[in-house]
Amino acid sequence: MSLRQLCRRGLAAAALAWSAWLGVVLPSTVQAAEASYVGEAVCIRCHVFEARHFGHTLHARTFRQNPRNERERQLCEACHGPGSAHVADTANRELLIGYTRRWGTPVARQNAQCLECHQGRQRIFWPGSAHASAEVACSDCHNPMARYSESGLLRTAGVSETCYTCHAQQRAEFRKRSHMPLPEGKMSCGSCHNPHGSATRPLLKTNSVNELCASCHAEKRGPYLWEHAPVRENCMNCHESHGSNHEMLLVAPRPFLCQQCHTNRTHQNKLVTTVNQANGGDPSTWLIGRSCQTCHAQIHGSNHPAGVRFLR
Ligand code: HEC
Ligand code: HEC
Ligand code: HEC
Ligand code: HEC
Ligand code: HEC
Ligand code: HEC
Ligand code: HEC
Ligand code: HEC
Ligand code: HEC
Ligand code: HEC
Repeated sequence: MSLRQLCRRGLAAAALAWSAWLGVVLPSTVQAAEASYVGEAVCIRCHVFEARHFGHTLHARTFRQNPRNERERQLCEACHGPGSAHVADTANRELLIGYTRRWGTPVARQNAQCLECHQGRQRIFWPGSAHASAEVACSDCHNPMARYSESGLLRTAGVSETCYTCHAQQRAEFRKRSHMPLPEGKMSCGSCHNPHGSATRPLLKTNSVNELCASCHAEKRGPYLWEHAPVRENCMNCHESHGSNHEMLLVAPRPFLCQQCHTNRTHQNKLVTTVNQANGGDPSTWLIGRSCQTCHAQIHGSNHPAGVRFLR
């Protein structure tokens, strides 16, 4: 706690003690404690524009036309909290739950309000997740006051655009030569990540990287008769997830990719090194096109009885 916060706390406590001693209660304390629900008609008197835009959202439709409980009938106040104190003193920012940075309501308080209705399901791992720990607010990604996106009440038109507002590095990665068709709109960050939290780092939707990749690339799931160990272990041994300047999202160009792990006995004299080239070794067939895979074609695994070296 900063010195300033401490002082403020001290002053507030002193003020409370004094008011108790005097038998009076400070005005703002009364309002905060006794604020009651006034109904949306009152809010709309001053917030005409906000209410009009809000009218296009799923919350407005559900709460107005088909409220399932008292909580939903509170409408604006279901999110912003009881409003009578705010109506009496619109300048005091502590009398109402606001979701903009300038209003200053603590992020934890904001999120708790949304979670009252949205706990569990996709958000089962929200508490303690990377975003929750970094004090990201629900309203950093969502703007329930208007309909900017087809679905999900997002701040921007799409999922990935929303993520890019903070994750510029990933935007740059998806601009590299090789990438999955995310910038082309065929998938989004949400195809692989659950921004609300997950049991698998980093916010992956599945229990492991391989399970994630296999959810779309089913043919790579295996099991194969002859497994290639690094494939079974983790697709990230050879591939980048977001983008690469090498073909096929590879982490390194071939044959160097293979040579990171293999210093073969069989191909000793063929290994692509300057020494071997100087000694008359001919690396050409090992370098052109698919290099090692000209022969070891089934690099993800083989189901051929004679596929032990992934040659077929
Ligand atoms: C008498 C007019 C009036 C009424 C009625 C009123 N407000 Fe406000 N409200 C204001 C004004 C003025 C501000 C801006 C205060 C400021 O910027 O310091 C404000 C600010 C807000 C904000 C914060 C905006 C931000 O910057 O984050 C919210 C949320 C809000 N009002 C919601 C409501 C709700 C919900 C109701 C109904 C319970 C309501 N208001 C009723 C006048 C009103
Ligand atoms: C589902 C929750 C929810 C409901 C219901 C809701 N709001 Fe909001 N409101 C928010 C959030 C979140 C923001 C912050 C939006 C942003 O970041 O710009 C907000 C922002 C505002 C603001 C600040 C101005 C702005 O648009 O940024 C006002 C004023 C406001 N709301 C008034 C209302 C009124 C009036 C109603 C009812 C007609 C209402 N809200 C219903 C969640 C809600
Ligand atoms: C009073 C309960 C309540 C509160 C509070 C509430 N919501 Fe909702 N929300 C709902 C209901 C009901 C729906 C309609 C869909 C459903 O039944 O799940 C919904 C839908 C949504 C959707 C999905 C919209 C879509 O198009 O699919 C999002 C996103 C959402 N809420 C975010 C928020 C955020 C962010 C907050 C806090 C600022 C919030 N909600 C506060 C009840 C609530
Ligand atoms: C880092 C960004 C981010 C944050 C933070 C975030 N969301 Fe979401 N939320 C999303 C995205 C992306 C979707 C999917 C939208 C789509 O596919 O249309 C979504 C969908 C939803 C939905 C609709 C789907 C469902 O689960 O029923 C609700 C409700 C929702 N979020 C509530 C919340 C609440 C409550 C919080 C705060 C505790 C929150 N979100 C925080 C990004 C976020
Ligand atoms: C308001 C800013 C903000 C937005 C918007 C946002 N993030 Fe984040 N994200 C963060 C912060 C802060 C962290 C934690 C610090 C870090 O690792 O950079 C984080 C971390 C992450 C991580 C790493 C988690 C880990 O365990 O290391 C992933 C994955 C992620 N975000 C995905 C998303 C996705 C997907 C979206 C869009 C749906 C999104 N983020 C939108 C701020 C944001
Ligand atoms: C095809 C699936 C996929 C898509 C689409 C995807 N990611 Fe990832 N992301 C991953 C995987 C897998 C990792 C873990 C990489 C690792 O372990 O080396 C990761 C890691 C991350 C991290 C942690 C830091 C890092 O870069 O390793 C962040 C942050 C992140 N992703 C954000 C995003 C954002 C933002 C988007 C959308 C622009 C996105 N991701 C799209 C699969 C994906
Ligand atoms: C949501 C579905 C989805 C997920 C999950 C997914 N992919 Fe993809 N991937 C695609 C699509 C679609 C393409 C483009 C296919 C095409 O163009 O024929 C692609 C293409 C690729 C390519 C070829 C890239 C190129 O430059 O041609 C590689 C390599 C790849 N994915 C690896 C992975 C890995 C590794 C994972 C796990 C981190 C993964 N994918 C997860 C959908 C997915
Ligand atoms: C040992 C390194 C290595 C590992 C580990 C690896 N790959 Fe690959 N992958 C490659 C190479 C090399 C290519 C280039 C394609 C070719 O020429 O056969 C490729 C190509 C691909 C392609 C695009 C071409 C095609 O065959 O569809 C996809 C999709 C792919 N890999 C998915 C995966 C998935 C999913 C995993 C994890 C289960 C994985 N890879 C693990 C080396 C690897
Ligand atoms: C991340 C390390 C790694 C990378 C990268 C890698 N491999 Fe492997 N590879 C292994 C391991 C570990 C084995 C299992 C070795 C064993 O069982 O003795 C293996 C086995 C093999 C085998 C069968 C060897 C045998 O003795 O049965 C061949 C052939 C092979 N890899 C070729 C390749 C080719 C071609 C590439 C490049 C496209 C490549 N590998 C990339 C780690 C790797
Ligand atoms: C011209 C075809 C061809 C090319 C190109 C080729 N290989 Fe081979 N590789 C073979 C054959 C044939 C065997 C032996 C199979 C046997 O003995 O059962 C083999 C065996 C292997 C083995 C297992 C035996 C050992 O030496 O450990 C590995 C690992 C291997 N190759 C990796 C590679 C790598 C890495 C590259 C690229 C630098 C490569 N190969 C390029 C044909 C090739």
